[in-house]
Amino acid sequence: MLIRNMTADDIDEVVKLETACFTHPWTKNMFLGELAQTTTTYMVAEQDGKIVGYMGMYQAADEGNVTNIAVLPEYRRQGIASALLNSFINLCIDKKLCFLTLEVRKSNTGAISLYKKFGFTEVGLRPKYYDNTEDAILMTRYFD
Ligand SMILES: CC(C)(COP(=O)(O)OP(=O)(O)OC[C@H]1O[C@@H](n2cnc3c(N)ncnc32)[C@H](O)[C@@H]1OP(=O)(O)O)[C@@H](O)C(=O)NCCC(=O)NCCS
Repeated sequence: MLIRNMTADDIDEVVKLETACFTHPWTKNMFLGELAQTTTTYMVAEQDGKIVGYMGMYQAADEGNVTNIAVLPEYRRQGIASALLNSFINLCIDKKLCFLTLEVRKSNTGAISLYKKFGFTEVGLRPKYYDNTEDAILMTRYFD
């Protein structure tokens, strides 16, 4: 598996992945907008030339914020999200960031387990954050 930076040429394939993973998938223009910013980093996981996962982050001062992470359903539980998270954690350490933070649906127990495995702890709750219905758990991984 190869982890590399996402380019504009990847976006059509990434949008298909998004659509397979989320009920409100990001559009091509949203990804183009993200890639155009200087404060964001997006990486893809590629297996046999196919994009099977991606993750994004934006940086604000010395803080990192995960925008999204997703893996194609048929490629899950093979360590792909873990490889992406490892790459981003190393990037945060290289950039000397203080912490990496994210929001996750309270019901997304799989993702919460993944984040805990990577040293994220629950630091807060945003009530009705999703669709004014579901709470978001705020999770943060601190760096020394
Ligand atoms: C969450 C997601 C990114 C995980 O991707 P993945 O490539 O399957 O994750 P990994 O294989 O690296 O998992 C590593 C560990 O995380 C935990 N984990 C991951 N998915 C899990 C699940 N569905 N249930 C329980 N634990 C899970 C396990 O501890 C797993 O280790 P194990 O397989 O040895 O038990 C993937 O399920 C996904 O794309 N979900 C839909 C999109 C989403 O919810 N994104 C998160 C938005 S906040």
